[in-house]
Amino acid sequence: MFGAASMVGSHYAMRSGKTIHAAGRTDPSSRGISVEGFSSVQVGAPAEIENFVRNRPEPVVVNFAARTDVDGVERERASPGEPLADGEAWRINALAPEALARAARLSGKYFLQISTDFVFDGSAGPYDESVPRSSLSSRLSWYGWTKSEGERRVEEQAPRAGILRIAYPYRSSFPPKLDFARGMVARQRAGTLPSLYADQLLTPTWVPDVTKAVNLLTEAQQAGIFHAASPDPTTPYDFAEHLFHRLRAEGLRLERGSLASALERPGATPRPLKGGLRSHRLPQLGLGLTGWREGVDLLATEEGWM
Ligand SMILES: NC(=O)c1ccc[n+]([C@@H]2O[C@H](COP(=O)([O-])OP(=O)(O)OC[C@H]3O[C@@H](n4cnc5c(N)ncnc54)[C@H](OP(=O)(O)O)[C@@H]3O)[C@@H](O)[C@H]2O)c1
Repeated sequence: MFGAASMVGSHYAMRSGKTIHAAGRTDPSSRGISVEGFSSVQVGAPAEIENFVRNRPEPVVVNFAARTDVDGVERERASPGEPLADGEAWRINALAPEALARAARLSGKYFLQISTDFVFDGSAGPYDESVPRSSLSSRLSWYGWTKSEGERRVEEQAPRAGILRIAYPYRSSFPPKLDFARGMVARQRAGTLPSLYADQLLTPTWVPDVTKAVNLLTEAQQAGIFHAASPDPTTPYDFAEHLFHRLRAEGLRLERGSLASALERPGATPRPLKGGLRSHRLPQLGLGLTGWREGVDLLATEEGWM
């Protein structure tokens, strides 16, 4: 697998029950994530990753690696009229999945690419698996566009591949990177909690559901697009209200913010306003997905907040 040291991928590496050979830039064991083996592979070098996949014995390749810093990636966007920027996000999010999918097809392996709801522009979410990705790069963040290009190239190279989209993933026990939920708690404790968007629709993904979905899809070698996300949508404001209630932070006054207003500011990174994912295909395969309230409760229990 690629991206075993990532916030989401490390859960799969540790908790899937599979024997994992990790590949990429960082040996996950250096971060306390134990895997069976590790190969140093340059994710930004398509020929190198293609060669690696074709020479490994495993029948399945899963890719969690991505450049995920949405605002940082935005600085790599090519200006209108300029040639396409050949930045790191382009190489990791678009070209690497293409090379992995191609290598998987050529060596008869199943490939699963992890992707995001940011491939939609957020004008009419939550989106189900049948809705086409936004076709206009200007309506997406550069992160969303590079991930979208990654998906498109995976489909082109390996029609038998799977694409698993997730949205605002959150989990317990991962100090190296804060997520949607633990980030709110950390900022609240530091006294730097900003106003929370009350007009943004999202469907946060409980990370253990991703591990279950990856197991299901890789075992059944399912092709096409799958969504794993909370069945009911929420907003950052409502999510935080429930979260801080669970933390017993009674009396805490949350401030309502507006993503619609934030998006109007010059230079704002595009983000889905009415975003989120509807998951039809995984439940049809028998996988129930965790609603955001239940996920917050599980998180609070696992983190010892209640
Ligand atoms: N986090 C979210 O909010 C979110 C939302 C929707 C979908 N997703 C998707 O879920 C997946 C996992 O996301 P995450 O947040 O768990 O990721 P993460 O913690 O940011 O980790 C990213 C992974 O990609 C690797 N990577 C990044 N740049 C690289 C480069 N230039 N060369 C080699 N490796 C590189 C990192 O390697 P190192 O360990 O060496 O740094 C790390 O393993 C991604 O596909 C992402 O698009 C995430």
